[in-house]
Amino acid sequence: MKKRVFSGIQPTGTIHIGNYLAAIRRWAITQAEHESIFCIVDLHAITVPQEPKLLKAKNLEMAGMLLAAGIDPEVSVIFVQSRVSAHAELAWILNCIIPMGWMLRMIQFKEKSQRHKEQASTGLFDYPALMAADILLYRTGLVPVGEDQRQHVELARDVAERFNSRYGPTFELPEAVIPEVGSRIMGLKDPTKKMSKTGDDKDNVLGVLDPPDQIRAKIMKAVTDPLREIRFDPERPGIHNLLVIYELFSAEGRQAIEQRFAGKGYAQFKAELAEMVIEGLRPLQARFCELMKDQGYIGRLLEEGADRIRPVAEGTLNTVKEKVGLGLPVLRGS
Ligand code: TYM
Repeated sequence: MKKRVFSGIQPTGTIHIGNYLAAIRRWAITQAEHESIFCIVDLHAITVPQEPKLLKAKNLEMAGMLLAAGIDPEVSVIFVQSRVSAHAELAWILNCIIPMGWMLRMIQFKEKSQRHKEQASTGLFDYPALMAADILLYRTGLVPVGEDQRQHVELARDVAERFNSRYGPTFELPEAVIPEVGSRIMGLKDPTKKMSKTGDDKDNVLGVLDPPDQIRAKIMKAVTDPLREIRFDPERPGIHNLLVIYELFSAEGRQAIEQRFAGKGYAQFKAELAEMVIEGLRPLQARFCELMKDQGYIGRLLEEGADRIRPVAEGTLNTVKEKVGLGLPVLRGS
């Protein structure tokens, strides 16, 4: 049976190859297998401060990127989260059934709030409840994401189970779909931490829109190790990460890649990797530039997407409100 697929991406920072390889590219490849919905999550973006004008522009840019990567609006729905108000409304209701203890266990909040604990917004803490609402509103079966989102999808599943057992069968139980290879692309400068859209060091992040010269420079400067042997070995995070990127862009097997570079130096490997990435991203970059010339078209697609999907979201929300007992009883008299 066809399941519904839902995933989301924040319209913030630099769209990097981790986002592309683990999420966007896979969404495009598998979109026709199921009914697919992709959401640009601007309500999640404001859990940390954003420049208002830039945020709107970023929504459009992210939509351009999804389209450039091959997401077909005839096949999938693409929309901006804040255009369907049921997301925020369901998040509130879920807030009231999620135990604090579950939220306190969320690793991402701990990581993101580390530097300014007292200043972190309540929204940042509550982020997983909104994400659960995103997923559950569409009775989603499958959620294709990178490894860093696994815990959030599991929380959404736990919330669905809790709601269903308290109020009767309502939500589908969602499952995270995480790729075997490349589910956690690491930083180029610090390969012990995941590559992140909003990191401070630009050389750590390989942007999908980076021009060729930047891609070359960043890859050549990427941190490796003194061992000089080009082999897939998770114990050597720098070279392992670069090899995983090579594997995903080349679609070659690991053995073939190791043989290709046997006895060769890191500089040669990095140079070939850079050309592979540049060529891999070239069509995407060209399509993106072309699409961004007609912003009206992208805007209309996003509005149509929201209009198409809103009734589904509102249908679920109404069922939930009914079950929870919100609103008025059936009225007698005139
Ligand atoms: P976001 O915007 O941080 O990232 C979008 C997608 O990219 C994946 N990703 C990575 N994959 C591999 N290596 C990396 N270094 C890397 N960095 C990011 C993420 O796992 C994600 O799949 N909370 C989500 C957005 C969201 C969502 C949802 C996702 C909101 N509601 C509902 C699924 C379902 C987020 O911040 O993704």
